[in-house]
Amino acid sequence: MPEKLPAEFVFSPEFSRDPHSTYSALRDRGPVHPIDFPPGTDAFLVVDYEHGRKALNDPRLSMNPARWPELFPMIFGQGNPVLAHNMLNSDPPDHTRLRRLVSRAFTPRRTESLRPRVQEITDELIDAMTARGHADLLGDFAFPLPITVICELLGVPVDDRDAFGDWSTSLITPPLDEEQARHRAEANDAMRAYFGRIIAERRARPRDDMVSAMVAARDEEDLLSEEEVLSTLTLLLIAGHETTVNLIGNGMLALLTHPGQLALLRERPGLLPSAIEEFLRYDGPVERASFRFSTDDMEIAGVPVPKGSLVHVCLGAAGRDPGAFDDPDTLDITRTDNRHVAFGHGIHFCLGAPLARLEAQIAFETLLRRLPDLALACPPGEIAWHRNGSLIRGLRALPVRF
Ligand code: HEM
Repeated sequence: MPEKLPAEFVFSPEFSRDPHSTYSALRDRGPVHPIDFPPGTDAFLVVDYEHGRKALNDPRLSMNPARWPELFPMIFGQGNPVLAHNMLNSDPPDHTRLRRLVSRAFTPRRTESLRPRVQEITDELIDAMTARGHADLLGDFAFPLPITVICELLGVPVDDRDAFGDWSTSLITPPLDEEQARHRAEANDAMRAYFGRIIAERRARPRDDMVSAMVAARDEEDLLSEEEVLSTLTLLLIAGHETTVNLIGNGMLALLTHPGQLALLRERPGLLPSAIEEFLRYDGPVERASFRFSTDDMEIAGVPVPKGSLVHVCLGAAGRDPGAFDDPDTLDITRTDNRHVAFGHGIHFCLGAPLARLEAQIAFETLLRRLPDLALACPPGEIAWHRNGSLIRGLRALPVRF
């Protein structure tokens, strides 16, 4: 059995800056490693592609934390966690029921119908930036774009985005100390109260939006509970923007620091779809998949994983596994057969993948077309990543000039 890694492994500043070389060194020692994260748990990191992909779709690994009440507060915090009762944190048959309820809103065809509006928002954001000649591409563009789209889809006022942007970040970041734990508990209560108000408003005066559709599914057909309505809306709001913002941010940083690839994409815009898949593989927004719990004693790559353990599948590490990708540390926007797992795999495969791809395609195409001199406004070494320990990998800011 390999030695147990300390929790700091995923919290250190070095790891946040460059998780890939840390993962690579770890992968050389084996695909599965015990880790004390969250502290005090029996947990394992899976750092290769083959076992990571299998684990994502292994029915012995449950996504329902209610089955392990003693681990529940460590993951979601004390109190009444708003994120605990949605499709991501459930197993079949609940997962199947909850996913089916909203999946029609996210089919490739329905998503494609959003194209004109996504383009309009993209153009408006770039108009506002060009007047200044410089921008924080993250705060001025990559964040407002997906959050506006998901708010409009759900039927949530976009003007409230700064407030729930902060709450959602707190909700998905494991706290390091009591202060952060308190912050997360406050964010949980605020999100609960916020959606509670919106649900009550739509119940009184329904509109043509997803909140109203879910309220109708609850009240008229009894297809889900009130708590599941609240939790599903929170999941969609969070998943709908915490990730795409970082596909645009991480992808643009990768492109701007690889001038040959940038020039190639400008020359051959038809490469955009494969470039986006490459950004997802090379430095995807989801560093580790959500917590999974072993429902039985099992082995992963020969390492015993006792019943009740937590399993972290490192999607970022899987994307750089030389066993699965040629030259994995090379950014190659012409890469074909790019079977990355940045959107997960199996029954929990990202419901919003078509929307994320659409937003990213419009964002990159329009930025490159309208800003021919787009470049970093500071040395790459000065660009800061968010502290890790969160499931998300993303930048704090991306200063650019054009
Ligand atoms: C699930 C990644 C954008 C909604 C997931 C999972 C991943 C992922 C890795 C699976 C997690 C696991 O198995 O532990 C991403 C990335 C995105 C993105 C990289 C952007 C680049 C979106 C968007 C939405 C969305 C725009 C729209 C609302 C969801 C939902 C699930 C999910 C609802 C849960 C699916 C289930 O449990 O069946 N996503 N996501 N995601 N994603 Fe995304």
